[in-house]
Amino acid sequence: MKLSTGIFFLSSLVGAAVAFIQAPGPYNISLVESDKLRRALHRKVLYEHAKKYQSFADTTPERNRVAGSAGHNLTVDYLYDALVATGYYDVEKQPFTYILSEGNTSFSALSKEYDSEFMSYSPSTGGSTITAQLVKIANLGCDQSDYPEVTGKIALISRGDCQFGLKVARPYVPTASISGADGAALVAAIEAGPVQGSLLVDATNEVRYTHNVLATTKGGDQNNVIMSGGHTDSVVAGPGINDNGSGSIGNLEIALQLTKWSVKNAVRFGFWSAEEFGLIGSNYYIGTLPEDERAKVALYLNFDMIASPNFGYLIYDGDGSTFNRSGPPGSDAIERLFEHYFREVGLPTRPSNFDGRSDYAPFMDIGIPVGGLFTGAEANKTAEEAVLWGGQVGVAFDRHYHKAGDDINNLNMGAWIQNTKAAAHAIATYARSTKTIPKRSPSRRVKRDTKHTIPGACGSAPLHVA
Ligand SMILES: *[C@@H]1O[C@H](CO)[C@@H](O)[C@H](O)[C@H]1NC(C)=O
Ligand SMILES: *[C@@H]1O[C@H](CO)[C@@H](O)[C@H](O)[C@H]1NC(C)=O
Ligand SMILES: *[C@@H]1O[C@H](CO)[C@@H](O)[C@H](O)[C@H]1NC(C)=O
Ligand SMILES: *[C@@H]1O[C@H](CO)[C@@H](O)[C@H](O)[C@H]1NC(C)=O
Ligand SMILES: *[C@@H]1O[C@H](CO)[C@@H](O)[C@H](O)[C@H]1NC(C)=O
Ligand SMILES: *[C@@H]1O[C@H](CO)[C@@H](O)[C@H](O)[C@H]1NC(C)=O
Ligand SMILES: [Zn+2]
Repeated sequence: MKLSTGIFFLSSLVGAAVAFIQAPGPYNISLVESDKLRRALHRKVLYEHAKKYQSFADTTPERNRVAGSAGHNLTVDYLYDALVATGYYDVEKQPFTYILSEGNTSFSALSKEYDSEFMSYSPSTGGSTITAQLVKIANLGCDQSDYPEVTGKIALISRGDCQFGLKVARPYVPTASISGADGAALVAAIEAGPVQGSLLVDATNEVRYTHNVLATTKGGDQNNVIMSGGHTDSVVAGPGINDNGSGSIGNLEIALQLTKWSVKNAVRFGFWSAEEFGLIGSNYYIGTLPEDERAKVALYLNFDMIASPNFGYLIYDGDGSTFNRSGPPGSDAIERLFEHYFREVGLPTRPSNFDGRSDYAPFMDIGIPVGGLFTGAEANKTAEEAVLWGGQVGVAFDRHYHKAGDDINNLNMGAWIQNTKAAAHAIATYARSTKTIPKRSPSRRVKRDTKHTIPGACGSAPLHVA
């Protein structure tokens, strides 16, 4: 799960387009069944994979698995080697580059130091603090006409409507964020008279090389492919065992167990890299997937953070009934499948908004039906939710979200195995039949929302992050 304030627009693209060779399955074994696949999944095994991920993070002084780092490369190799060894999958490492961006900021005005945060891809202020007059930008700063003369000044821009990146796209200048309340107070002060501000941004922006891992069953109909994915990288701050070790490990173990059966439809597992920097790996995959290959993808299932310690059982709101943001046609059927499953096993669920913060977004953009599970990130659990699932009221679903504490101890094993079994149920069901999912015509294309896309950005999806 990536942070909602991330943006990206400098990812350069390298590497070959994906080509999947059609091969008949060498296996004459019985067709996969949901209950058999689920029975093959055990929490102890998930935990063993998680210990591996933790050990990969621990090999680095930073204790993380950031895309392209030593800890992440070990993760990619672990997944790749395990999948290749089965002989059941065509496995591919898909290379791409992204820009790793991190930094610190400090901002003060009116003799007060404000809490400020670094914005990805911001340049540095050049090792020194810039002091200049503050100027308010009209409206939400999405149109050129909102900008007065800003040369030599510090612009205050409200959040909303268009991407953060668009707002600073014309002058590419050092950028930081402050809270809405602090911003409003400063705007009020400016209206009373000139205000000086001081801004320091200490940034590192460097090109990193990394890989997605894709594993497609050799058997099954290669023209009707079920995809299931999760991301393999962590943030800089910590090992990322729940976010999103839990999802990619769940997928890995399902992929390993699936080899005991045959499939009617091909199943492809996607292990995305650089999710935490703006869904870069999944965007790269979709961006380079030829039109005719896109048309073969029947649906995409996302499993990102499925073992949050103070968990809830959340299902993406495919039909838009709760959040008024539905997925492409067929997403409603995926939501119903999960709802039905959880009802059968006696676990209460709630819908989760398609807020664009995980790897389903690029699939959704091109009209592929999407769905998946989530156990909550930084939001606090309400009293009503605690009645449903237990846990602590007023505490985040994952209080170590994007922090050093997202380690091997930051897992709810019960939620993890339940969600992994639910994922296995969906994969087994759709590997047998996609009859509940409407067929897409190969020419179907969902028009991209160009207003929110940064012109000239390579592979950038319209992430509604502002
Ligand atoms: C697969 O197995 C079934 C029964 O076990 C047998 O009848 C069939 O001929 C086999 N097919 C192939 C292609 O080996
Ligand atoms: C991780 O793998 C990438 C891609 O192969 C490589 O460029 C990078 O140097 C590796 N990182 C480390 C720390 O070895
Ligand atoms: C930010 O601060 C940390 C610790 O305070 C420091 O290690 C790091 O080098 C700083 N700069 C960047 C670009 O991260
Ligand atoms: C991350 O989450 C996705 C779903 O969003 C899941 O499919 C994937 O397996 C997870 N990856 C890791 C490393 O947890
Ligand atoms: C739901 O979203 C649509 C646009 O996607 C909008 O026109 C409509 O007013 C929204 N309905 C509610 C109840 O918010
Ligand atoms: C969760 O609650 C804590 C303590 O009341 C509060 O500081 C924090 O801002 C809340 N987090 C969110 C995301 O609302
Ligand atoms: Zn995350």
